[in-house]
Amino acid sequence: MAVAVAEVHGEAKEQLKGKPGPILLLGAPGVGKGTQAKELMAKWGVPQISTGDLLRDHRARGTPLGLEARKLMDAGKLVPDDLVNQMVAERLRQPDTASGYILDGYPRTLGQAKWLDEHVGADAAALPVIAVSIQVGYTELLRRITGRRNCPVCGTIYNIYLQPPKVDEKCDLDGAPLARRSDDTEEVFQERMRTYESQTAPVVEHYRALGRFAEVNGDQPVEAVAAAVVAAVARLRN
Ligand code: AP5
Repeated sequence: MAVAVAEVHGEAKEQLKGKPGPILLLGAPGVGKGTQAKELMAKWGVPQISTGDLLRDHRARGTPLGLEARKLMDAGKLVPDDLVNQMVAERLRQPDTASGYILDGYPRTLGQAKWLDEHVGADAAALPVIAVSIQVGYTELLRRITGRRNCPVCGTIYNIYLQPPKVDEKCDLDGAPLARRSDDTEEVFQERMRTYESQTAPVVEHYRALGRFAEVNGDQPVEAVAAAVVAAVARLRN
């Protein structure tokens, strides 16, 4: 895959040319996976697949999966692998994933990682998976989670401390009242962190060992994190 080196803001940056293929964004709750997925989606023209968003959509529609997921999500626990894998399999069948996709918050267990590796490996035309782990310290994560607000209409993510809307609690783009996730309390965040350490940290090690893996400092401005992810993907796809 061709990689161009461009001078942007006086700084040399690698840029991806061509298909990004399957990209995994890994990291603890609040590191900025969703924020980055939206940036990268705009840069690369491939969809964001967030298992958290897909599950919240099931909840909102009151499907059997949504009803099963609600209690687990509000307790900071994971939804069972078979349910999540099936949901991802359905989404990956959509034609908009042909050039690649950004998986945000999946895989989160070694079982999910194994399923995904087999699923991608079974498609001879698919590029291998690239995993990017975003790193942010605990205190900053807590501020990000407790300050997060989302627009229920367009999905834009805000933070009342770090990325506030122009008008309090209103979306800049459509004026809709912003919403707060039911799992964005300090208590549930602590349980989500425990779940991350016990079940998802091994997934990071799994992809580190496979080699198509990069770590990015998420404690910098959104554009700087996105530039670091783009550079890492370009380097790993080269
Ligand atoms: P999910 O929705 O995936 O939650 P999460 O992984 O805990 O991640 P978050 O969405 O909280 O954070 P993020 O990293 O996307 O950060 P964001 O960009 O929003 O999952 C929720 C639940 O669903 C799980 O607990 C589980 O129950 C279930 N689930 C989901 N996937 C599953 C799976 N695969 N298997 C089983 N169960 C699953 O940013 C956070 C805040 O920080 C925002 O306010 C943002 O504005 C701000 N921010 C972001 N970047 C920056 C920056 N660079 N500088 C300053 N502020 C920033």
